[in-house]
Amino acid sequence: MYLGIDLGTSAVKTILVDHAQRVIANRSHALTIDVPRPGWAEQDPAAWIAAVFATLDALKADYAREMGEVAGIGLSGQMHGPVLLDADMKPLRPCILWNDGRSTAECVTLEQRWPALRVITGNKAMPGFAAPKLVWVAAHEPAIFTATRLVLLPKAYVRCVLSGEAIEDVSDASGSLWLDVVKRDWSDDGLAATGLTRAQMPRLVEGCAPAGRLRSDLAERWGMTKRPIIAGGAGDNPAGAVGIGAIRPGATFLTLGTSGAVIAPVDAVTANPDRVVHTFCHAIPAMWLQAGAMLSAASCLAWIARLLGATEAELLAPLGVRPAAPSPVSFLPYLAGERTPHDDPNARGLLDGLSHATDRNAVVQAVLEGVAFALADCRDALTDTGLVISDADAIGGGSRSDLWLAILASVLNIPIHRLAEGETGAAFGAARLARLAVTGEAIATVCTAPARTATFKPEPGLAAAYAERLPRWRQLYRPRREISP
Ligand code: XUL
Repeated sequence: MYLGIDLGTSAVKTILVDHAQRVIANRSHALTIDVPRPGWAEQDPAAWIAAVFATLDALKADYAREMGEVAGIGLSGQMHGPVLLDADMKPLRPCILWNDGRSTAECVTLEQRWPALRVITGNKAMPGFAAPKLVWVAAHEPAIFTATRLVLLPKAYVRCVLSGEAIEDVSDASGSLWLDVVKRDWSDDGLAATGLTRAQMPRLVEGCAPAGRLRSDLAERWGMTKRPIIAGGAGDNPAGAVGIGAIRPGATFLTLGTSGAVIAPVDAVTANPDRVVHTFCHAIPAMWLQAGAMLSAASCLAWIARLLGATEAELLAPLGVRPAAPSPVSFLPYLAGERTPHDDPNARGLLDGLSHATDRNAVVQAVLEGVAFALADCRDALTDTGLVISDADAIGGGSRSDLWLAILASVLNIPIHRLAEGETGAAFGAARLARLAVTGEAIATVCTAPARTATFKPEPGLAAAYAERLPRWRQLYRPRREISP
């Protein structure tokens, strides 16, 4: 038995997986986000620990026998948020999360202090990442910065509580801007640019490598007689990739969850930070993930459903399974700002082309198309460096819509595959990493891909119409500082 624990932003999800890779049970515990000021987002690390313990206590209560057989624990989680610990390993302040936008100015400072940042980290300095948040703390809360003995990312903090050891995996560490992504090691120059040293950083491991054992008192609490090994684990997207077997070059996938992304596993880094491509180490050795990331995808459909007072299913049903032509309306999906390709936390959504004739269907179709165009921007940022993307698997809630996948196939002009229903989340990938850490099996044996249940092909006429629309859609985006003071 293996446990996968995913420390999400809205909940902790823990699953119990058997040796046949069947999910035996899952428990989740909700988390809340504190917003001390507009655009800021924080969580108390103590709330994460309480949530992780709640899921494990619940599994112990209902699955005591299976918990007794757990040999390995894998951790995955929200990336980027630094937990600052004092000399007694106590958090000095709440964690500033990945979706907190306060450190825009600090990104400029950081790139000035360390001109090689983009080359070494493979990423552009963005407020979502950890390093600018530390520059902000140093400037605004100097006593806390001075007292910081150790900096851990969210799931490494959970590990530290579970095992007593400060260890991070290289995929999550890639979201810090302190990692040399090619060497898969901390960059001393990067740390120095933030006023930190290696002594304040956890030891690094690969995601599928062992990284300590559960403390014996906790093993006793949950009846885990084997005192499980804890795997290095991964950031949420790398763990998700492991969960769907995206472990080889060419296994590109796109996510249509709350946020969206086009994610390509690669065996050599071809970073494109200038176009806001994210480059992370994969959770398996000698592989990386390059991603174009958008902040609002399926959440745009949820937004329009709320606005129109209908369910998503009610909105989609009248549109059928494929559009006859692009909607006369255009939609920019930047409801929460945007990363790829704009890196603009102040970007906002837009509906363009409204007339007296505009009906609900035209607006809903425009929302689906707007997300697809934004994913085309993500894809183009990736292929800009020569990467070839000839098809993609789609995952996430939005991938249940035939219409949306048909639109995506024609907008991206590549076949899009739907994967079999099943456990595809980050927790499942984390459980796979636990198994690899315990058994040392071949990665390809464990990290298989689910079956493809449908393929959506581009329709030539529609693809041509979207290709014509895309440049006009792109022109709709204006940095807000140009239109409002
Ligand atoms: C990746 C990213 C998200 C967060 C939250 O860059 O910001 O995947 O980890 O899910």
